[in-house]
Amino acid sequence: MLELRGISRYFGGLAALKDVSIKVEKGEFVGLIGPNGSGKTTLFNIISGVLKPSSGRVLYMGRDITGLNPNKICHLGIARTFQIPRPFKNLSVIENVMLGVLFGNFEQFVPYSEENVKQEALKYLNFVGLRVDESTMPDELTAVGLRRLELARALATRPALLLADEVLSGLNKEELAEASSILKRIRDEMGITIIWVEHIIGALMNLVERVIVLDYGEVIADGSPTEVSKDERVIEAYLGEES
Ligand SMILES: Nc1ncnc2c1ncn2[C@@H]1O[C@H](COP(=O)(O)OP(=O)(O)OP(=O)(O)O)[C@@H](O)[C@H]1O
Ligand SMILES: [Mg+2]
Repeated sequence: MLELRGISRYFGGLAALKDVSIKVEKGEFVGLIGPNGSGKTTLFNIISGVLKPSSGRVLYMGRDITGLNPNKICHLGIARTFQIPRPFKNLSVIENVMLGVLFGNFEQFVPYSEENVKQEALKYLNFVGLRVDESTMPDELTAVGLRRLELARALATRPALLLADEVLSGLNKEELAEASSILKRIRDEMGITIIWVEHIIGALMNLVERVIVLDYGEVIADGSPTEVSKDERVIEAYLGEES
């Protein structure tokens, strides 16, 4: 479904990504981890068209999408959530999700009456467990609520591939478990392929079937959670972060 071929990205002299090659198959639930600054968000930015790679290609469903703009990539069925939620603050929560419905994946037809669009938006808000009324504004939401809104907005675009960037950060233990189970349901019930970046590695390791580890912009491990957690380079990379 998604294939990255030799992706590198430089910021000035800094190599944020170095020759990253990854394949993700349809239906996979993949975790992407790595210490701070290892290039995870940069990789999402490149896949979603926010940044262009310095070299390398991004292939999606067999098509070269390298350098296409984010709107076009969204229309092709790739959605992402942002590490720092960024709703439109002057629109209600429901309207934020309605925008996702309206500007999402054009492959799947949505009847364009305002009421239909709203019902569709409510369906996604409901799926992520965010209860709001017509007048609820984003700034009335808690940290948990904002993360749920990010997810609902992304789902509303009807993606085939979801890039989830740190959907658990700022949540307490109970909220963690619930938010993780929502991700799992997105894959299992909606059939959406997921790449999930997360700092809370325990929660991630419990859910995903495969983990890719980045360190200084390079893939240092790729395998099952059990394999990866025993990998010496991975252990070293994380010990380095703590010291
Ligand atoms: N727009 C940018 N301009 C300059 N440097 C950048 C930019 N974006 C990222 N970087 C640098 O590239 C490296 C990788 O950053 P990135 O945000 O991808 O890491 P990350 O793995 O998502 O980290 P975190 O876990 O902290 O979110 C870092 O050194 C960062 O400072
Ligand atoms: Mg990041």
